[in-house]
Amino acid sequence: NTVYLKDYKSFGYLVDQVHLTFDLSPNATRVTSRIAFSPNPETEDRSFFLHGEKLRLIRAAIDGTAVSPEITAEGLRVAAPDAPFVWEAEVEIDPANNTALEGLYMSNGMYCTQCEAEGFRKITYYPDRPDVMSTFTVRINGDLPVLLSNGNPVQRGEGWAEWHDPWPKPAYLFALVAGDLVAHSDSFTTISGKSVDLNLWVRPGDEHKCAFGMEALKKSMKWDEDTYGREYDLDVFNIVAVDDFNMGAMENKGLNIFNSSCVLASPDTSTDANFERIEAIIAHEYFHNWTGNRITCRDWFQLCLKEGLTVFRDSQFTSDMRSAPVKRITDVIDLRARQFPEDNGPLSHPVRPESFQEINNFYTATVYEKGAEVIGMLKRLVGDAAYAEALDLYFARHDGQACTIEDWLKVFEDVTGRDLSQFKRWYSQSGTPRLKVEEEFSEGTYTLTLTQHTDPTPGQPDKQPQVIPVAVGLLSPNGDEVVPTRVLEMTEGTQSFTFEGLAAKPVPSILRDFSAPVIVERETDTAERAFLLAHDTDPFHRWEAGRALARETLVEMATGDATPLPDYLDGIRTLLRDKSLDPAYRALMLGLPGQSELAGHLHEAGITPDPAAIWIAVEDLKQALARDLQDMLPDIYAEAQVDAPYAPDAEQSGKRALGAAALDLISRLDGGKQAAAQYEAADNMTLQLSALGCLLGAETGDAQLAAFYDQWKDDRLVIDKWFMLQIMKAKPDRAAAVAKALTEHPDFTWKTPNRFRAVFGALAGNHAGFHDSSGAGYDLLADWLIRLDPLNPQTTARMCTAFQTWKRYDAGRQEMIAAQLDRIAATPDLSRDAGEMISRIRGA
Ligand code: ARG
Ligand code: ZN
Repeated sequence: NTVYLKDYKSFGYLVDQVHLTFDLSPNATRVTSRIAFSPNPETEDRSFFLHGEKLRLIRAAIDGTAVSPEITAEGLRVAAPDAPFVWEAEVEIDPANNTALEGLYMSNGMYCTQCEAEGFRKITYYPDRPDVMSTFTVRINGDLPVLLSNGNPVQRGEGWAEWHDPWPKPAYLFALVAGDLVAHSDSFTTISGKSVDLNLWVRPGDEHKCAFGMEALKKSMKWDEDTYGREYDLDVFNIVAVDDFNMGAMENKGLNIFNSSCVLASPDTSTDANFERIEAIIAHEYFHNWTGNRITCRDWFQLCLKEGLTVFRDSQFTSDMRSAPVKRITDVIDLRARQFPEDNGPLSHPVRPESFQEINNFYTATVYEKGAEVIGMLKRLVGDAAYAEALDLYFARHDGQACTIEDWLKVFEDVTGRDLSQFKRWYSQSGTPRLKVEEEFSEGTYTLTLTQHTDPTPGQPDKQPQVIPVAVGLLSPNGDEVVPTRVLEMTEGTQSFTFEGLAAKPVPSILRDFSAPVIVERETDTAERAFLLAHDTDPFHRWEAGRALARETLVEMATGDATPLPDYLDGIRTLLRDKSLDPAYRALMLGLPGQSELAGHLHEAGITPDPAAIWIAVEDLKQALARDLQDMLPDIYAEAQVDAPYAPDAEQSGKRALGAAALDLISRLDGGKQAAAQYEAADNMTLQLSALGCLLGAETGDAQLAAFYDQWKDDRLVIDKWFMLQIMKAKPDRAAAVAKALTEHPDFTWKTPNRFRAVFGALAGNHAGFHDSSGAGYDLLADWLIRLDPLNPQTTARMCTAFQTWKRYDAGRQEMIAAQLDRIAATPDLSRDAGEMISRIRGA
């Protein structure tokens, strides 16, 4: 049951209106639908199939006459008139036993929904596809204080409420929430002077965690007006926090639903990183109102149309609210950690996939983050002004439509006159292009020769050249910028670019601002990297030079040589001392590439990575850094202290990040003394958690760990951190045992995805621990995936990705992982979600 992009056909009917009535009851909710259909003039096909899963059909009628449809596990089929008609149906569903958290389900006594991508079919019979759009009127009957749905409130009575959404939308944007909730309310006046009521709905007890999310929402509304000219279009905007949620959040029209971990925040329970992420996710979901809701996707293959664009928009927002270079660097760190392994492994797929079994498996870093990078490239190629014009045209031309990537590219072609057919390969070709760089200098002319190559990926043996914008600047040997950033537009397999009139051979700074999601392969020496680390004027590329040095050092240390490169240590020392640099930037400079990333590098260099050796190399390098920087660490730590009252802004967060990086090194020298002091004095979660992490790393944190639990045992979001941190900080040979012990803890409420991910996300993220040669990590994860799958296929399938890099490792590890993959695959009634993931990871 694979679905293909090429098989797209429009539905035989249009939906003119939807009317839904919900009679809420935990085990037997009645959903009555009255839907006006009319023949779709775009097609002759009048077959009438409605999606529907796990529904008990009580009655169905067409124009008031009872009908008896043919029912399967996927939906129903019945003969329908070739003329407008009204469909009515009554179904019964069981929200309390809906553990998959898709459709209508319950979380802590509250009803809520998640319909994207194909969850609406678990609520009632419907053409559950994004190109079928309609206006919805919803009546909720239920004995609960708060009853919410999309759009504007129409009427409210004792035990019922009615909502109307005037904007046509696909069913995946439907939402309903009912529960005992309290609102943090505010309002926003739009650019044309309309007042919008804003509410953030939470469970009683969480009221003190709403203020930050509300501010983020108002900033997002303002930013979208100022930057994209997009105004909000309803009288109310509601956000609800839910504890049981498979993903981060959902952009349902006028009623966004959030994983509580992605919206609730307070200084004493949330870290700076939590605050920044929450601000970005609130923005992301809000921005979907235009890029996703007003203009939606024709089919799920076009998912990147809304997700890539909306991620791009939320990253622009964060860059504007905070520090643009810091945001760019953290986005690249994230891309390399999550998207590169996907793009270069068995799960590799194009930004616009061409087939799938389960669409939920394609909410990936490739669709989202690489999808956003593709938009960034397009903007760089056409320029800011043309980008703005193209977006205006996109909104004007396609408002109210369900669109494709072709529609998206066409507005750029129409605005710029460019032919984007080659650029479109970014949407169809999977795999990360590699860019080989060669240089030549003679008589004042410097020539860069670039060669692109993309390795075969599953289903795509041959790759064509892509359009790659390569931002390049040149520095003179004494460190001045002699050629400022220029974008070389690469279209061929191999291409040369010349720069004339240079007094001496320059040092190139290539792929500034990470202008394309590619891997630069350049034969270069340590000295040149050190030079760029000291002199590059592009903040991203300066960081990149340091990162490359750190990687080089770690690779050498992990494969034999035990001493760090002096160039690296010198460079870092100079940077750390430079107080003109943003503390956040210096903190990033002190960061090291992840161990999984290093394993990937070794694998690509033809060396089988040894996770234990990589772990030791990282520990040794940190020890060496600590010793080398010993004299300046107290100073840096002191500089990083914040005197003002806590604020999760860029400036304070940057200081705390630098302080945490310093404390990590200090703890390697003082056995945790400073960290213990910080823990005692901490008046916010950022300082408390970073201190606890250092103490656990130094193996002296038992008392604080217990105290932390005691202090926070009633706060589920903090207890998630408590679970996570212990596993992240466990020594490699202990990680699986620590995780296993935690699964026996009474607070291991494993059916809640956040708690499941706290444990197993942390285990998979502890590279050396997960890949410990005992195989205990593999075994434990597989046990729990098998256990979770019957209840929650979506979260199970997502966690299967922990195994996606398995072919990098030695034969022994590969054999152990293959055995676990086969064990999962052999589980009776394995879900389609997990089945597809396991078979793709396992490969042919
Ligand atoms: N559209 C949501 C977002 O990006 C993600 C929801 C995905 N849900 C899912 N079940 N696949 O904001
Ligand atoms: Zn999204």
